[in-house]
Amino acid sequence: MLNDQKVSYSGVQPSGNLTIGNYLGAIKNFATYSEQYKCFYCVVDSHAITVRQVPAELRRRTYETLALYMACGLDPEKNTLYVQSHVPMHTELAWILNCYSMFGELSRMTQFKDKSEKHADNINAGLFTYPVLMAADILLYQTDIVPVGIDQKQHVELCRNIATRFNQLFPDTFTIPEPIISKSGMKIMSLAEPTKKMSKSDENTNAVVYILDDKDTIIRKFKRAVTDSDTAVRFAEGKDGINNLMTIYSCFTGKTLPEIEREFDGKGYGDFKMAVGEACADALAPVQEKFRQILADKAYLEEVMKKGADEASYYARKTISKVKRKVGFVI
Ligand code: TRP
Repeated sequence: MLNDQKVSYSGVQPSGNLTIGNYLGAIKNFATYSEQYKCFYCVVDSHAITVRQVPAELRRRTYETLALYMACGLDPEKNTLYVQSHVPMHTELAWILNCYSMFGELSRMTQFKDKSEKHADNINAGLFTYPVLMAADILLYQTDIVPVGIDQKQHVELCRNIATRFNQLFPDTFTIPEPIISKSGMKIMSLAEPTKKMSKSDENTNAVVYILDDKDTIIRKFKRAVTDSDTAVRFAEGKDGINNLMTIYSCFTGKTLPEIEREFDGKGYGDFKMAVGEACADALAPVQEKFRQILADKAYLEEVMKKGADEASYYARKTISKVKRKVGFVI
């Protein structure tokens, strides 16, 4: 809570191109909170460097991610949109929280285990304490809700544990946040291996639909999507590929699964895949158009970043001062 208003907070990493999984699972829903909540949406560049980045690309993607937030309907007048490294209180609080986070609990984070396997040559300390920085992001703004994809739920749970522990030692410091997992946060899976999450870092680009893919590419990718040897469009156990396509179609059209089964009754997978591709491309077209317009105006983006960082700093400063006082620093 900030000044009697509930707070929504989320972040997106400016690494890799964003996928329809990021869009449907998280970003698309951010705009729905603007009326009821004070909203902070952050481009988390400090998180991104836990794996190696090409500096020029990281910088470019930071602008792109901000532009994408806006293209997805986040108005910078109604939401605080900013870049994590512009507000140094994030890393300040992260250090303090590191001293109240346990090695054991961080070792249990599945994302850490996955990323350590994937980047076995670079298991750095930042990768390990990544969730503590994320907890700092959230707790700095006395956040009530955190809209995220299901893969981030464990990190938000950890954040709650850290905050609860801290509050037991130092009462009334942090609001305890709730994760909000969108209905479609049922994971969007890879089109090539539908038992695996669709991941922006997948090497097989046919497995992944990016928010900025053009219509032909989108349709081609859906046409190639792995399905099964059955022929009926129905949502059922063991039909991971079809289940995933039905979920995607449902998210883009608002149709329910039974409605989709009825719509494609007696039709084959070919027709269905085509329809999913069309629905996806049509839904993304206006987002892409807006994205291009916004990205073309770098000065405007920089203005938005600056204003967002000023707004965020105002609130972050209050929390960090309180925390420093509580832990016994001279301030
Ligand atoms: N870890 C999140 C992800 O990879 C991004 C993130 C960083 C975040 N800080 C956050 C999400 C705070 C929600 C709230 O998707």
